[in-house]
Amino acid sequence: MRKILIDQVVDGMILANSILSPNGKVLLKAGVELNNSYLKRLKLLGISEIYIEDDISEGINVLDVVSEETRQEAMSIIQNVMISLRNDSGFDTKQVHDIAEKLISELVANRNVMVNLSDIKSLDGYTFAHSVNVCILSIILGIGMGFNMNRIKELGIGAFLHDIGKVLVPMEILCKPSQLVPEEFEVVKKHANYGFEILKKCDNISTISAIVAFGHHERLDGSGYPLKLRGESIHQFTRIVSVADVYDAMTSNRAYRKKLQPHEALEYLTALSNTQFDSAVVAAFKKHVAIYPVGSGVMLNNRQKGIVVKNNQNLPTRPVVRIIYNEYNQKLNDFYEIDLSERLNLFIIGICQL
Ligand SMILES: [Fe+2]
Repeated sequence: MRKILIDQVVDGMILANSILSPNGKVLLKAGVELNNSYLKRLKLLGISEIYIEDDISEGINVLDVVSEETRQEAMSIIQNVMISLRNDSGFDTKQVHDIAEKLISELVANRNVMVNLSDIKSLDGYTFAHSVNVCILSIILGIGMGFNMNRIKELGIGAFLHDIGKVLVPMEILCKPSQLVPEEFEVVKKHANYGFEILKKCDNISTISAIVAFGHHERLDGSGYPLKLRGESIHQFTRIVSVADVYDAMTSNRAYRKKLQPHEALEYLTALSNTQFDSAVVAAFKKHVAIYPVGSGVMLNNRQKGIVVKNNQNLPTRPVVRIIYNEYNQKLNDFYEIDLSERLNLFIIGICQL
């Protein structure tokens, strides 16, 4: 399978990964033959890239670090939590503990897999899919940083609930399809305090979750909010969730801006490592998240184009690439694979469409 822009999809292409609705239900199932009406629907959902199966990508499998069922379940749980809170009732904390445990056990089993966040988020379900992704990324960082199981679970629950305060932000601001004006942004910023207030009252949810919700927009150099905290005064779990939060937000489409590619978001985090973000967290992140995810089209410095087949864990910029087009942009009859970890004169110069 390979990833392509929705604008490049033509009738008859085969969808490789199921598309989930905001509450985790399957909207379009993997294997379906795409046609114009499906494409219109995907565009309406704000989906800009999908995975397809075709001859040039045969045998390339993008493995998500968690199963589709677990991802669906997690999205539906966070949606239920948020609906209960909007309706002024409490939420089922046991469900939150259970899903955190399930995610952790799948992620521990896949601990040596470089993360390809292969989920395709629709605009509507952004907050739910985002909460699940931030939770997954934070758990991976916790595992990578050698935390024990209790700490990983506490971190995972904090990450899962980090944006819970958004339930108290008016919907018309939260779902505004354009950039917020400064007064509206001030209202959105309050979600950090709201989250703290909600979570500190919950039995069976650790205070650390409340601290993470409160501080996930703080930055090491004091440029964040709500308290402009600095350095070590920001809890370590909060520093982890901040990195996961920014990465997932930047690689997601929003109504008012297009998403960045993983390598662009990682460059941003690297550039701000030590000033805004904890350098140890950014380093762990780069070890575990694929810069060029499997299925991406890439161009090499010799102008050849191909598809990423496999990542090399300790050399994230040097994956195995299946060459499809030669340096004259002619499609090859026989594709072949090169391992960039062994061909040091070759390197990727950018993402491209094939
Ligand atoms: Fe937030």
